[in-house]
Amino acid sequence: MGVAAEMRAGQVLLVLLAASAVMPAKDPLLNVCMDAKHHKTKPGPEGTLHGQCAPWKDNACCTANTSSEAHKDQSYLYNFNWNHCGVMPSKCKRHFIQDTCLYECSPNLGPWIDQVDSSWRRERILHVPLCKEDCEEWWEDCKDYVTCKDNWHKGWNWATGTNRCPWGSICRPFTQVFPEPKDLCEKIWSNSYKYTTERRGSGRCIQMWFDPARGNPNVVVAKYYAWKKRSSPAGMENVTPEAGKAVCALPWPVLVLLPLALVLLSERVRSCGPHAWGSL
Ligand SMILES: *[C@@H]1O[C@H](CO)[C@@H](O)[C@H](O)[C@H]1NC(C)=O
Repeated sequence: MGVAAEMRAGQVLLVLLAASAVMPAKDPLLNVCMDAKHHKTKPGPEGTLHGQCAPWKDNACCTANTSSEAHKDQSYLYNFNWNHCGVMPSKCKRHFIQDTCLYECSPNLGPWIDQVDSSWRRERILHVPLCKEDCEEWWEDCKDYVTCKDNWHKGWNWATGTNRCPWGSICRPFTQVFPEPKDLCEKIWSNSYKYTTERRGSGRCIQMWFDPARGNPNVVVAKYYAWKKRSSPAGMENVTPEAGKAVCALPWPVLVLLPLALVLLSERVRSCGPHAWGSL
């Protein structure tokens, strides 16, 4: 390599280095949509999300059509019948609608996306840490309803095209089927959610309900858990916040490019003297 070429290479490396320092690499756990039945491939703005799904309109994984369908009984989304043990009261149903909006629309569930071998979706969510209030209000508003099952994902009688209580099951009060809020939030969708004692606004739990005027609070929550997951890929439990911080502090291009750039530049400086910098 000639002098000019080496100087040029050094410069290019420095520019790459600066760029990688200011623009962190895109994290595959952040701002993503899961590969499921109705999700868009990438999140983006949606002008007219319906009703309770509207908080996600600035950046959503659902289409306007999905957001409208999320509010219907027996919608084309999953043909799911909320009223399998009599009519579900609206104060209870609004939580199921909100749960559907979060599932279909949120671009902040990346850290909990799990691969599944299923006929109708390739990815699901597992152990999303739901804020205490969201879980407790859901349970409180539904506790006068009745149901025949604690896991609403599986085991229904689909013979008529919609879910009905399986033979031999009986409709019982919610409080018997789900004695505590934790039972409802964790069992109903086979551990899609994890009950937590974290509060709304703590930055440590996912909110089903939020006021979009103050932004989407789940963005920072996903960032926090994505970082936590990277520093302990084996699992997100039992991790001390300091573990892995040193390794994660510098993006890899810095670690690789910095020594190269320094070697190239310093060789030139040594052999050519100070005037070599004039061409930089
Ligand atoms: C959404 O799309 C489906 C399938 O194309 C259609 O059957 C349904 O009527 C649409 N719903 C709304 C609310 O537009």
